[in-house]
Amino acid sequence: MKMWSGRFRAPLDPEFERWQRSFDFDKRLLKQEVEASSAHARALKEAGVLSSDELISILEGLQKITAQANDEKFLDDPEAEDVHHFVEKQLVKLIGDPGYKLHSGRSRNEQIATDLRLYVRAAIDQLQHDLTALLAACVLCAGKAADNAMPAYTHLQPAEPVLVAHWLLAYFEMFSRDLDRLADCRKRLNLCPLGSGAVAGTTLPLNRNAMASSLGFDCPTGNSIDATSDRDFALEFVNDLTLLSLHLTRWAEEMILFSSQEYRFLTLPDAYSTGSSAMPQKKNGDLLELTRGKAARLIGNATALMVTVKGLPMAYNKDLQETQQPVFEATETMLALVPLVTGWMRAVEFDFEVMQEAAQSGFMNAFAAATYLTRRGVPFRLAHEQIGKAVAICLDKGCELQDLPLEELRQLNPAFQQDFPSSLTLQAVLTIHDVPGATAPTQVKQAIVEAKRKLASMKEETHAHA
Ligand code: ARG
Repeated sequence: MKMWSGRFRAPLDPEFERWQRSFDFDKRLLKQEVEASSAHARALKEAGVLSSDELISILEGLQKITAQANDEKFLDDPEAEDVHHFVEKQLVKLIGDPGYKLHSGRSRNEQIATDLRLYVRAAIDQLQHDLTALLAACVLCAGKAADNAMPAYTHLQPAEPVLVAHWLLAYFEMFSRDLDRLADCRKRLNLCPLGSGAVAGTTLPLNRNAMASSLGFDCPTGNSIDATSDRDFALEFVNDLTLLSLHLTRWAEEMILFSSQEYRFLTLPDAYSTGSSAMPQKKNGDLLELTRGKAARLIGNATALMVTVKGLPMAYNKDLQETQQPVFEATETMLALVPLVTGWMRAVEFDFEVMQEAAQSGFMNAFAAATYLTRRGVPFRLAHEQIGKAVAICLDKGCELQDLPLEELRQLNPAFQQDFPSSLTLQAVLTIHDVPGATAPTQVKQAIVEAKRKLASMKEETHAHA
């Protein structure tokens, strides 16, 4: 039986009927639909609409339905309009007419709003867990990198030497923000639309607080018009995922670059690479390239969501059905991707010798050299100019700043002393960057300790949700 055929005199165009259904994709919400329906059923019983026996048979019927949630055959129902219709049909099949009582005082508008929130909340919980594992992998790599150095680039030109660990912890910071954003999104979404009805609120005296708390929501939503038409949580969530995926493209791009013959900073892990069907020597970083490529989909999903709600009048409009697939695709993409990235990070081997070697040449100590003069009273702008001239001389001679004879340096500025070369060793240059958040080895050690402390508290929080 349809959920709404009474006032129709003519049947639907069959093509239209098939086309407007959402069950093909919203079957993913079966578990959430059953959970929300169980909460509603309990409230109906409290309101005197269901007898105790009816409640029990509805709850048992709903349990039987979720038990088959992964059975493709069970879900193959070309007649179900959407997941709400499907559950009602199955329930009636299992327990007969009392199944039709479940829809008393509610609307699919509040159901889909609730189911989708539950889905996004569960996805956030899983992603928080997965991202914590990725952060742990970054810290693990940073620990393994010990005091080895590498070039840091600006404009993709060698800039200054940094510890490899410092570079890896930059990703820790980036992904930590992603984790924070998800936690923040979770807070805002954790309100329960049940009891909002179609738009004006339920017509029965249902206990909204009880429904909300039985589903783990903090409290009921504040306004039935807003609650049935709001998809902000979906937009926020998918935008958060998009930013995460953009971060992953930056990570992937660097790893691709650093794995190339031109850099040789790392060896692509066999377990996450593929070969070429034509060129036998090839090993390609497919995981990294696909990571870069997936961001396009995420941006598409986020854009689709934003455009769907643009100019949409209150309250529920069927357009909102179109918000589901972008959420599902973004979620499924990221749930699959993040653990793979973590696996890659655990498997990758950096060539610390090559990295360290690359950090020793190319005038990456020029900033430190200018600072040497600054410390001896030379105004920085002049020091910059003079070291720039020294670099030009080195370029002609084919040497580094520390190789220039003292007399030659003194012609540029008499402030140069014997100790100039020793202030330009890799160790000396790293060490002068000695404030929290900078690359001096003691600071990086401290940053690793801090990162581990953060990780431990993140793990506690994820457990709290689980
Ligand atoms: N399948 C619908 C959706 O996803 C459920 C809500 C339908 N509501 C309605 N008034 N037709 O949005």
